[in-house]
Amino acid sequence: MADFYSLKVKNIKALTPSAVAVTFDIPEELFQTFAFSAGQYITIKKELKGKELRRAYSISSSPKSDSITIGIKKVDKGGFSDYANTKLAIGDVLEVMPPEGRFVFHRSDKPKNIAAFAAGSGITPIMSIAETVLDSHPENTFVLVYGNKSEKETMFYTALVKLQLDHSDRFFVYFTNSEKRSDDSLFGRIDVSTVNYALKNKHKNVDFDGYYLCGPESMIHLVSDTLKENEVASDKIHFELFTTTEIKDELPVSADGEAQIEVTVDDETFSFTMDKKMLVLDAVLKENIDAPYSCQGGVCSSCIARITEGKAEMEKNQILTDGEIAEGFILTCQAHPTTATLKVNYDDV
Ligand code: FES
Repeated sequence: MADFYSLKVKNIKALTPSAVAVTFDIPEELFQTFAFSAGQYITIKKELKGKELRRAYSISSSPKSDSITIGIKKVDKGGFSDYANTKLAIGDVLEVMPPEGRFVFHRSDKPKNIAAFAAGSGITPIMSIAETVLDSHPENTFVLVYGNKSEKETMFYTALVKLQLDHSDRFFVYFTNSEKRSDDSLFGRIDVSTVNYALKNKHKNVDFDGYYLCGPESMIHLVSDTLKENEVASDKIHFELFTTTEIKDELPVSADGEAQIEVTVDDETFSFTMDKKMLVLDAVLKENIDAPYSCQGGVCSSCIARITEGKAEMEKNQILTDGEIAEGFILTCQAHPTTATLKVNYDDV
Protein backbone atom coordinates (compact mmCIF):
# COMPACT_ATOMS: atom_id res chain seq x y z
CA MET A 1 0.00 0.00 0.00
CA ALA A 2 2.77 2.43 0.96
CA ASP A 3 4.41 2.38 -2.48
CA PHE A 4 7.42 4.60 -3.07
CA TYR A 5 8.93 5.46 -6.44
CA SER A 6 12.44 6.69 -7.23
CA LEU A 7 12.27 10.25 -8.58
CA LYS A 8 15.17 12.32 -9.78
CA VAL A 9 15.66 15.88 -8.50
CA LYS A 10 15.44 18.10 -11.57
CA ASN A 11 16.01 21.47 -9.95
CA ILE A 12 16.65 23.12 -6.58
CA LYS A 13 16.04 26.81 -6.08
CA ALA A 14 16.59 28.92 -2.96
CA LEU A 15 13.34 30.56 -1.88
CA THR A 16 14.61 32.25 1.28
CA PRO A 17 17.84 31.87 3.31
CA SER A 18 16.25 28.82 4.95
CA ALA A 19 13.92 27.32 2.35
CA VAL A 20 14.30 25.67 -1.05
CA ALA A 21 11.95 24.67 -3.85
CA VAL A 22 12.77 21.14 -5.00
CA THR A 23 11.48 20.01 -8.39
CA PHE A 24 11.18 16.34 -9.32
CA ASP A 25 11.23 15.01 -12.83
CA ILE A 26 8.23 12.74 -13.42
CA PRO A 27 8.94 10.09 -16.06
CA GLU A 28 6.17 9.64 -18.60
CA GLU A 29 5.28 6.16 -17.32
CA LEU A 30 4.56 7.68 -13.88
CA PHE A 31 2.42 10.63 -15.06
CA GLN A 32 -0.77 8.86 -14.04
CA THR A 33 0.61 7.69 -10.69
CA PHE A 34 1.80 11.19 -9.80
CA ALA A 35 -1.24 13.10 -11.12
CA PHE A 36 -2.58 15.31 -8.32
CA SER A 37 -5.15 17.91 -7.33
CA ALA A 38 -4.06 21.39 -6.27
CA GLY A 39 -3.42 21.34 -2.52
CA GLN A 40 -2.14 17.76 -2.18
CA TYR A 41 1.22 16.62 -0.79
CA ILE A 42 3.84 13.95 -1.38
CA THR A 43 5.75 11.91 1.19
CA ILE A 44 9.51 11.46 0.94
CA LYS A 45 11.34 8.55 2.52
CA LYS A 46 15.01 9.00 3.32
CA GLU A 47 17.45 7.17 5.55
CA LEU A 48 19.61 9.56 7.56
CA LYS A 49 22.07 8.44 10.24
CA GLY A 50 20.73 4.89 10.01
CA LYS A 51 17.13 5.95 10.67
CA GLU A 52 14.32 5.97 8.15
CA LEU A 53 12.56 9.33 8.04
CA ARG A 54 9.31 10.09 6.28
CA ARG A 55 8.27 13.66 5.68
CA ALA A 56 5.21 15.09 3.95
CA TYR A 57 5.59 18.18 1.75
CA SER A 58 2.85 20.04 -0.07
CA ILE A 59 3.13 20.50 -3.80
CA SER A 60 3.48 24.10 -4.95
CA SER A 61 3.39 23.49 -8.70
CA SER A 62 0.28 23.43 -10.84
CA PRO A 63 -1.37 20.06 -11.58
CA LYS A 64 -0.91 20.96 -15.25
CA SER A 65 2.87 20.91 -14.93
CA ASP A 66 4.82 17.81 -16.01
CA SER A 67 6.99 18.00 -12.91
CA ILE A 68 6.30 18.29 -9.18
CA THR A 69 7.74 21.08 -7.03
CA ILE A 70 7.64 21.19 -3.25
CA GLY A 71 8.80 23.84 -0.80
CA ILE A 72 11.04 22.69 2.07
CA LYS A 73 11.72 25.03 4.95
CA LYS A 74 14.60 24.13 7.25
CA VAL A 75 13.05 23.36 10.61
CA ASP A 76 15.28 20.69 12.11
CA LYS A 77 19.02 20.53 12.56
CA GLY A 78 20.21 17.18 11.27
CA GLY A 79 16.75 16.16 10.02
CA PHE A 80 15.43 15.83 6.49
CA SER A 81 14.63 19.52 5.98
CA ASP A 82 18.22 20.40 6.96
CA TYR A 83 19.52 17.76 4.54
CA ALA A 84 17.31 19.10 1.72
CA ASN A 85 18.49 22.67 2.31
CA THR A 86 22.19 21.91 2.60
CA LYS A 87 23.10 18.62 0.91
CA LEU A 88 20.47 17.61 -1.63
CA ALA A 89 21.72 18.17 -5.19
CA ILE A 90 20.27 18.20 -8.70
CA GLY A 91 20.38 14.66 -10.09
CA ASP A 92 19.93 12.99 -6.68
CA VAL A 93 17.22 10.37 -6.47
CA LEU A 94 14.70 10.28 -3.62
CA GLU A 95 12.00 7.76 -2.72
CA VAL A 96 8.62 9.45 -3.11
CA MET A 97 5.07 8.29 -2.40
CA PRO A 98 2.40 9.46 -4.92
CA PRO A 99 0.36 12.55 -4.03
CA GLU A 100 -2.43 12.37 -1.49
CA GLY A 101 -4.36 14.64 0.85
CA ARG A 102 -7.81 16.08 1.25
CA PHE A 103 -6.99 19.80 1.26
CA VAL A 104 -7.86 20.29 -2.38
CA PHE A 105 -9.37 22.74 -4.81
CA HIS A 106 -11.30 21.15 -7.66
CA ARG A 107 -11.60 22.95 -10.97
CA SER A 108 -15.11 24.07 -11.87
CA ASP A 109 -16.86 25.44 -14.95
CA LYS A 110 -18.54 28.11 -12.85
CA PRO A 111 -16.72 31.27 -11.72
CA LYS A 112 -15.40 31.12 -8.13
CA ASN A 113 -14.12 33.65 -5.63
CA ILE A 114 -11.57 32.11 -3.31
CA ALA A 115 -9.79 33.55 -0.27
CA ALA A 116 -6.71 32.04 1.34
CA PHE A 117 -4.74 32.67 4.51
CA ALA A 118 -1.25 31.24 4.82
CA ALA A 119 1.65 31.64 7.20
CA GLY A 120 5.27 30.65 6.58
CA SER A 121 5.68 27.42 4.63
CA GLY A 122 1.87 27.07 4.66
CA ILE A 123 2.02 28.97 1.36
CA THR A 124 3.19 25.83 -0.48
CA PRO A 125 -0.18 24.19 -1.29
CA ILE A 126 -1.75 27.64 -1.67
CA MET A 127 0.60 28.36 -4.60
CA SER A 128 -0.79 25.36 -6.46
CA ILE A 129 -4.37 26.25 -5.51
CA ALA A 130 -3.94 29.90 -6.56
CA GLU A 131 -2.59 28.95 -9.98
CA THR A 132 -5.38 26.44 -10.48
CA VAL A 133 -8.08 28.91 -9.43
CA LEU A 134 -6.75 31.57 -11.81
CA ASP A 135 -6.35 29.09 -14.62
CA SER A 136 -9.66 27.26 -14.33
CA HIS A 137 -12.02 30.14 -15.16
CA PRO A 138 -11.30 33.63 -16.58
CA GLU A 139 -13.63 35.26 -14.02
CA ASN A 140 -12.21 33.51 -10.96
CA THR A 141 -10.71 35.75 -8.29
CA PHE A 142 -8.22 34.93 -5.55
CA VAL A 143 -7.47 36.92 -2.39
CA LEU A 144 -4.43 35.87 -0.37
CA VAL A 145 -3.29 37.04 3.04
CA TYR A 146 0.21 35.73 3.69
CA GLY A 147 2.04 36.15 7.00
CA ASN A 148 5.82 35.95 7.58
CA LYS A 149 8.45 37.48 9.81
CA SER A 150 9.88 39.62 7.00
CA GLU A 151 9.98 39.92 3.23
CA LYS A 152 13.31 38.08 3.24
CA GLU A 153 11.63 35.10 4.94
CA THR A 154 8.71 35.07 2.49
CA MET A 155 8.68 31.91 0.40
CA PHE A 156 7.61 32.30 -3.25
CA TYR A 157 7.68 36.10 -2.88
CA THR A 158 8.77 36.72 -6.48
CA ALA A 159 6.27 34.23 -7.90
CA LEU A 160 3.45 35.87 -5.93
CA VAL A 161 4.38 39.35 -7.12
CA LYS A 162 4.43 38.01 -10.68
CA LEU A 163 0.97 36.48 -10.26
CA GLN A 164 -0.24 39.85 -9.03
CA LEU A 165 1.22 41.62 -12.07
CA ASP A 166 -0.12 39.01 -14.50
CA HIS A 167 -3.62 39.02 -12.99
CA SER A 168 -3.94 42.46 -11.42
CA ASP A 169 -7.75 42.44 -11.68
CA ARG A 170 -8.19 38.93 -10.21
CA PHE A 171 -5.31 38.13 -7.84
CA PHE A 172 -4.84 40.19 -4.69
CA VAL A 173 -2.09 39.46 -2.19
CA TYR A 174 -1.65 41.08 1.21
CA PHE A 175 1.75 40.35 2.72
CA THR A 176 1.89 40.81 6.45
CA ASN A 177 5.22 40.86 8.29
CA SER A 178 5.52 40.41 12.02
CA GLU A 179 9.13 41.50 12.57
CA LYS A 180 10.18 43.88 9.87
CA ARG A 181 8.08 46.62 8.36
CA SER A 182 8.15 47.14 4.61
CA ASP A 183 6.35 49.54 2.33
CA ASP A 184 4.17 47.07 0.52
CA SER A 185 3.09 44.93 3.47
CA LEU A 186 0.93 45.08 6.55
CA PHE A 187 2.67 44.91 9.91
CA GLY A 188 1.98 42.22 12.52
CA ARG A 189 0.78 38.64 12.60
CA ILE A 190 -2.40 37.54 10.87
CA ASP A 191 -5.08 38.42 13.41
CA VAL A 192 -8.79 39.25 13.54
CA SER A 193 -8.22 42.73 12.17
CA THR A 194 -6.16 41.41 9.21
CA VAL A 195 -8.90 38.95 8.29
CA ASN A 196 -11.57 41.62 8.55
CA TYR A 197 -9.45 44.16 6.66
CA ALA A 198 -9.09 41.82 3.68
CA LEU A 199 -12.60 40.45 3.61
CA LYS A 200 -14.83 43.16 5.06
CA ASN A 201 -12.96 46.21 3.86
CA LYS A 202 -10.89 45.54 0.71
CA HIS A 203 -13.19 42.89 -0.74
CA LYS A 204 -16.41 43.58 1.11
CA ASN A 205 -18.63 43.12 -1.92
CA VAL A 206 -17.25 39.73 -2.85
CA ASP A 207 -19.21 36.60 -2.08
CA PHE A 208 -16.48 34.02 -1.44
CA ASP A 209 -17.11 30.40 -2.44
CA GLY A 210 -14.30 28.91 -0.37
CA TYR A 211 -11.60 29.76 2.15
CA TYR A 212 -8.28 27.88 2.28
CA LEU A 213 -6.19 28.16 5.44
CA CYS A 214 -2.71 26.72 5.80
CA GLY A 215 -0.17 27.29 8.54
CA PRO A 216 0.28 26.72 12.26
CA GLU A 217 -2.64 25.60 14.38
CA SER A 218 -3.04 28.95 16.19
CA MET A 219 -3.39 30.85 12.91
CA ILE A 220 -5.89 28.36 11.54
CA HIS A 221 -8.04 28.57 14.67
CA LEU A 222 -7.95 32.34 14.68
CA VAL A 223 -8.90 32.73 11.02
CA SER A 224 -11.49 29.98 11.15
CA ASP A 225 -13.15 31.47 14.27
CA THR A 226 -13.16 34.94 12.70
CA LEU A 227 -14.74 33.60 9.53
CA LYS A 228 -17.42 31.78 11.52
CA GLU A 229 -18.11 34.97 13.51
CA ASN A 230 -18.67 36.58 10.12
CA GLU A 231 -21.25 33.86 9.42
CA VAL A 232 -19.19 31.88 6.95
CA ALA A 233 -20.50 28.30 6.77
CA SER A 234 -18.07 25.67 8.13
CA ASP A 235 -18.20 23.65 4.90
CA LYS A 236 -16.66 26.57 3.00
CA ILE A 237 -13.60 26.58 5.27
CA HIS A 238 -10.81 24.16 4.27
CA PHE A 239 -7.61 23.92 6.22
CA GLU A 240 -4.28 22.13 6.37
CA LEU A 241 -2.17 22.19 9.50
CA PHE A 242 1.52 22.90 9.11
CA THR A 243 3.50 22.31 12.25
CA THR A 244 6.91 23.92 12.51
CA THR A 245 8.34 21.12 14.60
CA GLU A 246 9.00 17.52 13.74
CA ILE A 247 9.09 16.49 17.40
CA LYS A 248 6.06 14.68 18.69
CA ASP A 249 4.34 16.07 21.79
CA GLU A 250 4.56 13.99 24.90
CA LEU A 251 1.54 11.77 24.93
CA PRO A 252 -0.81 11.68 27.87
CA VAL A 253 -1.45 8.26 29.34
CA SER A 254 -4.55 6.77 27.80
CA ALA A 255 -5.58 3.34 29.05
CA ASP A 256 -3.73 0.64 30.96
CA GLY A 257 -3.01 -2.92 29.95
CA GLU A 258 -2.64 -4.65 26.64
CA ALA A 259 -4.88 -4.95 23.63
CA GLN A 260 -5.18 -7.69 21.06
CA ILE A 261 -4.83 -6.06 17.64
CA GLU A 262 -5.89 -7.24 14.22
CA VAL A 263 -4.71 -5.12 11.28
CA THR A 264 -5.69 -5.50 7.63
CA VAL A 265 -3.41 -3.92 5.00
CA ASP A 266 -3.42 -4.79 1.31
CA ASP A 267 -5.82 -7.69 1.89
CA GLU A 268 -3.46 -9.27 4.42
CA THR A 269 -4.42 -9.56 8.08
CA PHE A 270 -1.93 -9.51 10.95
CA SER A 271 -2.51 -10.14 14.66
CA PHE A 272 -0.39 -9.04 17.60
CA THR A 273 -0.60 -7.71 21.13
CA MET A 274 0.28 -4.12 22.05
CA ASP A 275 0.50 -1.94 25.12
CA LYS A 276 -2.49 0.42 25.16
CA LYS A 277 -0.15 3.29 25.97
CA MET A 278 1.45 2.88 22.55
CA LEU A 279 0.03 4.43 19.42
CA VAL A 280 -1.54 2.01 16.98
CA LEU A 281 0.70 3.06 14.06
CA ASP A 282 3.86 2.77 16.17
CA ALA A 283 2.82 -0.75 17.19
CA VAL A 284 1.99 -1.65 13.59
CA LEU A 285 5.39 -0.44 12.34
CA LYS A 286 7.15 -2.26 15.18
CA GLU A 287 5.59 -5.44 13.78
CA ASN A 288 7.13 -4.55 10.38
CA ILE A 289 3.71 -4.23 8.79
CA ASP A 290 3.79 -2.03 5.69
CA ALA A 291 1.00 0.37 6.68
CA PRO A 292 0.64 3.78 5.02
CA TYR A 293 1.89 6.80 6.98
CA SER A 294 3.75 10.01 6.51
CA CYS A 295 3.90 12.83 9.08
CA GLN A 296 3.22 10.75 12.22
CA GLY A 297 1.95 13.98 13.72
CA GLY A 298 -1.79 13.93 12.97
CA VAL A 299 -1.59 16.47 10.17
CA CYS A 300 -1.43 14.62 6.86
CA SER A 301 -4.20 11.95 6.96
CA SER A 302 -2.21 9.21 5.20
CA CYS A 303 -2.52 6.79 8.15
CA ILE A 304 -6.33 6.68 8.18
CA ALA A 305 -7.92 3.29 8.87
CA ARG A 306 -11.39 2.09 9.77
CA ILE A 307 -12.15 0.42 13.09
CA THR A 308 -14.16 -2.72 12.45
CA GLU A 309 -14.23 -3.90 16.07
CA GLY A 310 -13.38 -2.27 19.41
CA LYS A 311 -12.57 1.32 20.24
CA ALA A 312 -9.61 3.68 20.11
CA GLU A 313 -8.99 7.18 21.38
CA MET A 314 -7.06 9.83 19.43
CA GLU A 315 -4.53 12.14 21.05
CA LYS A 316 -4.99 14.78 18.39
CA ASN A 317 -7.35 15.12 15.48
CA GLN A 318 -7.68 18.13 13.22
CA ILE A 319 -8.57 16.14 10.15
CA LEU A 320 -11.45 13.75 10.67
CA THR A 321 -14.96 15.14 11.00
CA ASP A 322 -17.36 13.98 13.73
CA GLY A 323 -19.26 12.08 11.04
CA GLU A 324 -16.13 10.24 9.90
CA ILE A 325 -15.23 9.34 13.47
CA ALA A 326 -18.77 8.03 13.95
CA GLU A 327 -18.22 5.87 10.85
CA GLY A 328 -15.19 4.34 12.57
CA PHE A 329 -12.31 6.23 10.93
CA ILE A 330 -9.19 6.93 12.97
CA LEU A 331 -5.75 8.42 12.44
CA THR A 332 -3.70 5.44 13.53
CA CYS A 333 -0.67 7.64 14.29
CA GLN A 334 -2.73 9.33 17.00
CA ALA A 335 -4.82 6.44 18.31
CA HIS A 336 -4.54 4.29 21.42
CA PRO A 337 -6.70 1.19 21.79
CA THR A 338 -9.15 1.53 24.67
CA THR A 339 -10.75 -1.90 24.41
CA ALA A 340 -9.27 -5.36 24.95
CA THR A 341 -9.60 -6.09 21.22
CA LEU A 342 -9.15 -3.63 18.36
CA LYS A 343 -9.53 -4.47 14.68
CA VAL A 344 -8.53 -1.87 12.08
CA ASN A 345 -8.64 -1.99 8.32
CA TYR A 346 -6.40 0.29 6.22
CA ASP A 347 -7.99 -0.92 2.99
CA ASP A 348 -11.56 0.14 3.79
CA VAL A 349 -11.13 3.92 3.70
S1 FES B 1 0.72 9.82 9.51
FE1 FES B 1 0.04 11.84 9.08
S2 FES B 1 -1.89 11.94 10.12
FE2 FES B 1 -1.06 10.04 10.71
